[in-house]
Amino acid sequence: MATNTPKIAHTMDLPPATEQPNIYPLSWHNQTAKLEEVYDAALRENWDPKKLPWDTFDVEQYSWEEREAIAYWWTVLSVFDASAPPVFAEALIKTYEAHEEDAVRRCFFSVTRDEQNHEQMCGLAITKLLGSPSPLEHTPRTELGKRAQRNAHWLYYNGGRYWTGYKKAVPKYSLAVLFSSFLMGEIAAATIFHQMAAGCTEPVFKEAFRNIGRDEGRHMAICMAVMERDYPKLKKEDAAIITKQIRAGYLFLSAVLFEPPPEFWDLPADFIEVQRKCEAVAREAGFLIPDYEAKKDNWRKAMLNLKGVLDKYDIPFPAIPEVGISGQEVLQVDMDEIIPVF
Ligand SMILES: [Fe+2]
Ligand SMILES: [Fe+2]
Repeated sequence: MATNTPKIAHTMDLPPATEQPNIYPLSWHNQTAKLEEVYDAALRENWDPKKLPWDTFDVEQYSWEEREAIAYWWTVLSVFDASAPPVFAEALIKTYEAHEEDAVRRCFFSVTRDEQNHEQMCGLAITKLLGSPSPLEHTPRTELGKRAQRNAHWLYYNGGRYWTGYKKAVPKYSLAVLFSSFLMGEIAAATIFHQMAAGCTEPVFKEAFRNIGRDEGRHMAICMAVMERDYPKLKKEDAAIITKQIRAGYLFLSAVLFEPPPEFWDLPADFIEVQRKCEAVAREAGFLIPDYEAKKDNWRKAMLNLKGVLDKYDIPFPAIPEVGISGQEVLQVDMDEIIPVF
């Protein structure tokens, strides 16, 4: 132990107060019973991506074009999910620094655990489908595969810009603000995975989607419980930040749940055309990605759900004209100042 700090114990009865924020809570408060329930469910519902019925999955029954098209969808998902474990690990640290309730800390640990499963699942699916551990390193076998890989490079480039922003945002914002952004991702994620589970014919994917959808439902419940606890005493300036972050979340998550908005995502001109083509091929092969109208409808419903929550606490909702929701105009959203996660 360093000896630079002068010894004081002989000069006083009790030590001075520890400077805050300090990562070191010596307390286990619990006020929110709902969180305890969700944490217990997380333990009960834990699953292992490696133990899914992989032996029923015969990749050879798909053509190379189908394999590359389905792997493309998993790649788009992993642009979001591969950042989720560190994102939630960072949030977990924040819950300790803020001396959050004991169950909040444990719930965030469980989210980090779950997100790592989701990330691992993306990796297993991609590796099986492409015979390569990275969609960026794989040598494409078809023309569509080649174009899909170019899309993947651009998605990865865009997603990479967001991490630095997130790291800057976490210490700046209160947990109340962070939770609203998380909730947005969780609502969106729960929606899409339930849909994919319902529409997908391959047993290993179907079961993965069912598990992931259930995890995301719990993540949603965690965010809701903390918001219900904190929003009645929310500061006015926090409300304004939340409005802006919701708009940012819409723009960011649209890339996986809808289509990436060109004013926010820096992508080549044929990006959407290639993505639609991949989705059509995957759909034909029994991997049921919702089509444009279905995605739009879901995304709109997810936004309206969130609006319902924010309305209760008089937090203005941003305008999302893309899916026909009117509200407060948010003009400028930058990639380097957003929080939303999946
Ligand atoms: Fe996830
Ligand atoms: Fe999640």
